Amino acid sequence: MSADKSLSDLLNSYNQGYSLEQGFYKNPDIYDEEIKKIFLHHWMLAGHTSQIPNAGDFFLFEFDIESIIITRNKQGEVKAHLNVCRHRGSHVCLEKEGNTTAFTCPYHAWSYDLDGKLIAARIMEADFEKQENGLHPAQVGLVGGLIFISLSDNPPSLNAMHEDLADVYDQFGFDNMKLVKQTTYPVEANWKLAVENYQECYHCAPSHIDYAKIHALALAPKKFAPLKEAFLKETTCNVRTKSSSYYFDLAKDGDEGYQYDRNPLFKGMKSGSLGGKPVAPLLGKINEYGEAASEFSLGPVTFFLIYDDHMVGYRFLPTAHNTCVADVFWFVRADAVEGEDYNLEELTWLWHVTILDDEKIIIDNRKGVDSHFYSPGKLSGMEDMEQHFLDWYINAMT
Ligand code: FES
Ligand SMILES: [Fe+2]
Repeated sequence: MSADKSLSDLLNSYNQGYSLEQGFYKNPDIYDEEIKKIFLHHWMLAGHTSQIPNAGDFFLFEFDIESIIITRNKQGEVKAHLNVCRHRGSHVCLEKEGNTTAFTCPYHAWSYDLDGKLIAARIMEADFEKQENGLHPAQVGLVGGLIFISLSDNPPSLNAMHEDLADVYDQFGFDNMKLVKQTTYPVEANWKLAVENYQECYHCAPSHIDYAKIHALALAPKKFAPLKEAFLKETTCNVRTKSSSYYFDLAKDGDEGYQYDRNPLFKGMKSGSLGGKPVAPLLGKINEYGEAASEFSLGPVTFFLIYDDHMVGYRFLPTAHNTCVADVFWFVRADAVEGEDYNLEELTWLWHVTILDDEKIIIDNRKGVDSHFYSPGKLSGMEDMEQHFLDWYINAMT
């Protein structure tokens, strides 16, 4: 059975154009390799600077068995440290979020400042070197106010992306947004089934009635292509339409993969909301509703859909080999006022109902993939982004 095959056997029998073999989803040994090769190396969205506006503010970013403290230090910088005490390893910070001047371990009370420096350790020998026992740092990569984390000492570079997408950051005002809602949806399935599902819109028309009324991407390619062509010719909105294909497998060695694209919504649809109505003030420097939405992704598990008046982020994180969580983040302009400029229920409606549909189809997918009778199936042309992900994944695991 494929579930018992070794990683090298599974990699050798990978058949491009088909879904993965069962072992990739079910084998806990393969999951351990994924953690090492993917999750301890690549960039993942941890959160947003608007969650930690003041010195000493912090929140925890957690996946699998890892816990990372994200904080703002006295100089106003964003810092990240592993939540693992340098004494005997206890979690140091037990609160999910808060404000503090120092992190004191609940076990024997070693205390660390906001920069992870050990500042107090009770009853230790005189020659104990406090400066060598700070919390392990994690790498922080800021994209405007978005906080990305890598646990690698040598993470993939973000420079190619920063250079390429500078105009996009500026047009959407990436450094002038705030996070107004984050919801975690637990999904009883291997994390790859969630990522694969996010990357293809082959399922959009049958599975997402509301999304498919707004997003032209739900159409078959033959119908979508002329709409996109007309959109590219006619749009007067000042948001970049040129796509970037530096996605996963296409990234140069040493760089993180990313992707940017802009696609039309159906005529009259201004935003991702009930009836396509505007739901918040225009972002950044956008001059008008373009009846379009931009897709932006960075690294293997973080995706954004940017409407002209708000941005939705999705992050898929493993919690074990057969479970994961889908986190959805909603962002608006930093100066937008709840109740006046936007209403949370209107703002979050579309992607709340859409992710509930997704949760169900991903779990149903997992049930079939678990079967003795599952075998890899042929992908459609509408699953080309998923194909990119699978190719990248196989390469990352090799
Ligand atoms: S484990 Fe943290 S002080 Fe002992
Ligand atoms: Fe979906």
